[in-house]
Amino acid sequence: MVKIAPSILSADFANLERDIQRIETADYVHVDVMDGMFVPNITIGIPVVASIRKVTKMPLDVHLMIVEPVRYVERFCDAGADLVTVHVEADTEENIHAAIAKIHAKGKRAGVVLKPKTPAEAVLPFLKEVELVLVMTVEPGFGGQKFMADMMPKVAAIRTWIETENPACELEVDGGVAPDTCKTCIDAGANVLVAGSAVYKAADIPARIAELRG
Ligand code: DX5
Ligand code: ZN
Repeated sequence: MVKIAPSILSADFANLERDIQRIETADYVHVDVMDGMFVPNITIGIPVVASIRKVTKMPLDVHLMIVEPVRYVERFCDAGADLVTVHVEADTEENIHAAIAKIHAKGKRAGVVLKPKTPAEAVLPFLKEVELVLVMTVEPGFGGQKFMADMMPKVAAIRTWIETENPACELEVDGGVAPDTCKTCIDAGANVLVAGSAVYKAADIPARIAELRG
């Protein structure tokens, strides 16, 4: 079944516990961490992840949009992340391997993320060692942007490689996912859909989460 990972970037940060309870029919809580360097925005850090951990049993999918994520992955794991994803563009290949190894040493799941301009092939050095691949369908940095349908061939190519090299690996998309774009993501081979504004702007959040499953 298709999994939904609502992004709390679109939640009310003054009412995070309430807004996490509102998405409990979803599968993951997607937490967007931005450092103002890798992307031109600053959002959530380690103490907030630790506070979220105390108020929900939902798995925390922590998307690190930070430079040299190897410096911080262990601290996000200790704060309560269940899955930590790092951008392949954020460091050397060697250090991305090291970040994945550190996440695994903490007993957590690891993933790699590709920005829109990064080719599908960039995932190949990591594909056998990760539990999830995330394909960005907007430029990372902000919620509420327009879905990039031209990322679908990249999703489809990575789905093909996953089937042969690492069938248990999940394939996630993030950015602009809404009722009118979810089906194309699923058809291309994504099995986890991140959605921020489409979930939190909905009048009936559980109904919207069900609708996004396709
Ligand atoms: C963007 C973030 C996304 C964002 C998605 O950099 O990684 O997770 O919150 O927001 P929507 O679903 O509104 O495009
Ligand atoms: Zn994200």
